[in-house]
Amino acid sequence: MSPREQPAFWVIIPAAGVGSRMRADRPKQYLQLGGRSIIEHTLDCFLDHPSLAGVVVCIASDDPYWPNLPCANDRRVQCAPGGRERCDSVLSGLRRLGELGADEHDWVLVHDAARPNLAREDLEKLLAGLADDPVGGLLAVPARDTLKRVGPDGRVMETVDRSVIWQAFTPQMFRLGMLRNALEAALEAAVLITDEASALEWAGHAPKAIEGRADNLKVTRPEDLEWLAQRWNSGRAH
Ligand code: CTP
Ligand code: MG
Repeated sequence: MSPREQPAFWVIIPAAGVGSRMRADRPKQYLQLGGRSIIEHTLDCFLDHPSLAGVVVCIASDDPYWPNLPCANDRRVQCAPGGRERCDSVLSGLRRLGELGADEHDWVLVHDAARPNLAREDLEKLLAGLADDPVGGLLAVPARDTLKRVGPDGRVMETVDRSVIWQAFTPQMFRLGMLRNALEAALEAAVLITDEASALEWAGHAPKAIEGRADNLKVTRPEDLEWLAQRWNSGRAH
């Protein structure tokens, strides 16, 4: 399917986290990578796509960094208030999309602000792989290493079958109404929701895993940024 035949899609970028595991002087999405902030690279993954309908970035109310970025003035980019947990931020973004005129059946891609190295080929693979899907799904990467279950004493209890274990990445792509309903119901039931797919799973759906590249890394700890900086400096970033 060529990009022109693809359905339009909206993007939500949750960017209201504090990045506690990075232990930096600011939220990790505002740290520098190749001369620009991480979140600017993240937005670049979507802004020139011909099927993009618009982007909503979810920002903490006391965030002093976002208003100073050039992309804050881009007319394709709108803001929504961030929430206490990631899923609260995403819900806020979904409500903002409703205000912007998005339809219940429109596709929404949720992508972490701290995941700046999404390859265009992966985005196209996700859009094409789910275009006719009744549920939606996510980019994911099959586990590579041998996996161990480790007990509280730090000793290995067993080796886990890695052939059925995949790491959940983003973007995660669902229909606006279905995702909002699933998130609201899961929050109401106080279920732990760490990504959009887990809300859909809790609602009884089976999101589709689309195999993506392992270098679509989320910056979580300092070594992740060091690794990405090497890619950028050697011209191997996407
Ligand atoms: N996020 C958000 N609202 C929150 C928490 C997280 O929008 N209340 C966003 C983050 O800004 C990030 C993405 O969700 O882009 C993924 O979350 P994570 O990697 O956990 O980021 P942080 O919560 O910022 O980091 P940490 O958990 O280390 O504090
Ligand atoms: Mg977090």
